Amino acid sequence: MTVIVLGSGGREHALALACHRDPQVAAVHAAPGNPGTASFATNHPIDPCDKDAVVALAREVAADLVVVGPEAPLVAGVADALRDAGIDCFGPSAEAARLEGSKAFAKEVMASAGVPTAASRSCGDLDSVGAALDEFGAPHVVKDDGLAGGKGVVVTEDRDEALAHAEQCLNSGHQVVIEEYLDGPEVSLFAICDGERALPMQPAQDFKRVGDGGVGPNTGGMGAYTPLPWASDNLVETVSNTVISPTLSAMRDRGTPFIGLLYVGLALTSDGPKVVEFNVRFGDPETEPLLSMLESPLAQIMQAAARGDVSGTDGLRFRRGAAVGVVMASEGYPASPVKGRRVVAPVDDEDVLHAGTRIEGDGLVTSGGRVLVVLGHGETLAGARTDAYSRVNQLEVSGGFHRTDIALHAAELEAVDEMADELAPQSENNPSNPTDGENS
Ligand code: AMP
Ligand code: GLY
Repeated sequence: MTVIVLGSGGREHALALACHRDPQVAAVHAAPGNPGTASFATNHPIDPCDKDAVVALAREVAADLVVVGPEAPLVAGVADALRDAGIDCFGPSAEAARLEGSKAFAKEVMASAGVPTAASRSCGDLDSVGAALDEFGAPHVVKDDGLAGGKGVVVTEDRDEALAHAEQCLNSGHQVVIEEYLDGPEVSLFAICDGERALPMQPAQDFKRVGDGGVGPNTGGMGAYTPLPWASDNLVETVSNTVISPTLSAMRDRGTPFIGLLYVGLALTSDGPKVVEFNVRFGDPETEPLLSMLESPLAQIMQAAARGDVSGTDGLRFRRGAAVGVVMASEGYPASPVKGRRVVAPVDDEDVLHAGTRIEGDGLVTSGGRVLVVLGHGETLAGARTDAYSRVNQLEVSGGFHRTDIALHAAELEAVDEMADELAPQSENNPSNPTDGENS
């Protein structure tokens, strides 16, 4: 099988590697890819949102499958163009991608499917924004209706800041969605969908805020880990039944079946799991630790999904143990990351994923905010953390920074649970409640 992965970040590096590991895959192409993908795949300098260029590349390399990494090409209709050209594509149509492209649309689908989520109001002017802010009270959650590259959501106690963000969105011609604040740890659950059926992955958790302890502005994600030893055993089953299946049915009933990766962002509230957001592509950086643990042949499964039937596959198997991914970011991220800074990192290490690097002269420099995603593995989260951070300490992003507390609290809880098991082997394991979730 020949596979093209569209995109240039750490997620795409991880996707391309997982395809490369699939025994059925003979060649991997990345478009545009990055210095990491170039070490085992062929990079092509095209814009992943340029439908004609993507279809032409797929024909040129006789691709059997195109995997779309980021949301922008999906919202732009790249998957539709590929399907129209008779090329299998793992990624939803532009219509189905509205689950991520429009927060108001996602809310409408969730309401019609009875999916548990935060109460919300879609507002087109500042008066209705003010009324909705007062209705729900603080903390205020204000969302740009359209794609905003991770900058669209503001969660704040400050009503003036909430209003100012809403005004900015309205001024750029977008609706604003005001939501009830959901309290509880956040979980990312990904499912490979074929339009009807879903193959869920094991859950992961992402660290959204820029600074240790969950302080500072929201980012695309500063690190992630999987699995979640503190989560209940039936979480995946519950979310499959209450969220994923009803959403797939609703999308099918609308005539826009969802084929691709459904990313369910959840808050585990005292009333059970509720949806914070849908994305229509793999999450970044959760994908990096997740795929490093995947034993199943990913390209074959994504191809089956693209063809509309995953029932003949063996599902998704993950190996035992834990994986932690730490983002090394460039100075100034997320507001204004500095580009062109020196990076010292290998390009051919499966545990060092390139997210924002490019080659300059005979070395690497930063080309984006998130520069590297560095992985560690272990039997426990503590072991995986030690492995990841010892690797981080050997690398360099000049002037850059990273969080030092990725998976720290979960590792501590895991250790307490292990100790409790040792002290009272007969007793029921009492799942503890983590405070890692950063939705505040
Ligand atoms: P979104 O782009 O919708 O994922 O929002 C980005 C981040 O904002 C989420 O990961 C949460 O941390 C936070 N957030 C979004 N919606 C809510 C909500 N209703 N309650 C609490 N936090 C939220
Ligand atoms: N890690 C959050 C995202 O991919 O949107």
